Amino acid sequence: MPVKKTVRDYIRTIVDFPHEGILFRDVTTLFADPRGFRLCVDQLVEPWAGSRIDKVVGLEARGFILGGAVAHQLSTGFVPVRKKGKLPGATVSQAYSLEYGEAVVEMHQDALQPGEKVLLVDDLLATGGTAEAGISLIRKLGAEVLACAFVVDLPELGGRKRLEAMGMAVHTLCE
Ligand code: PRP
Ligand code: ADE
Repeated sequence: MPVKKTVRDYIRTIVDFPHEGILFRDVTTLFADPRGFRLCVDQLVEPWAGSRIDKVVGLEARGFILGGAVAHQLSTGFVPVRKKGKLPGATVSQAYSLEYGEAVVEMHQDALQPGEKVLLVDDLLATGGTAEAGISLIRKLGAEVLACAFVVDLPELGGRKRLEAMGMAVHTLCE
């Protein structure tokens, strides 16, 4: 009998991208495979069956691909957190640093209502800087982050510990 592939089996590693010394965990191979994509979306959604979630927030750019699919499966709305300067309406913004640089992310001011329950979705958790910035934006609008869900955790970069230290529930599919 052939052994069934796991989510991890569909992800490839590109050495020295985008800078020397970075092992880039490339999820495009996971997303491109019909079984792989369904498997990871199903596993991201699974803990929330029967829970009240009002919105899925996805982090640019790979978090949009997953977040849209997760929101569809949970029958919620989807809200994008975008890199600075991309959103047309009035925004809240947050600066952050990540494994290989610094950036600012933004969300529309009217994208979430106070008290709404949010699931934050991205492909990968490294230092946790991007996710923490997303959490800050959601909280600035008075909404509540129920949990953060990622396909990949890079534990040596400390993101999970950082988010858990903020009291955040963290759901990841592989390391
Ligand atoms: C990657 C990844 C996460 C973030 C994780 O995105 O998709 O969003 O880095 O790193 P962190 O935990 O150290 O913050 P990137 O900023 O490369 O943007 P992209 O998805 O637009 O390529
Ligand atoms: N984002 C931050 N670090 C990364 C890595 N090593 N691979 C893919 N995406 C990343």
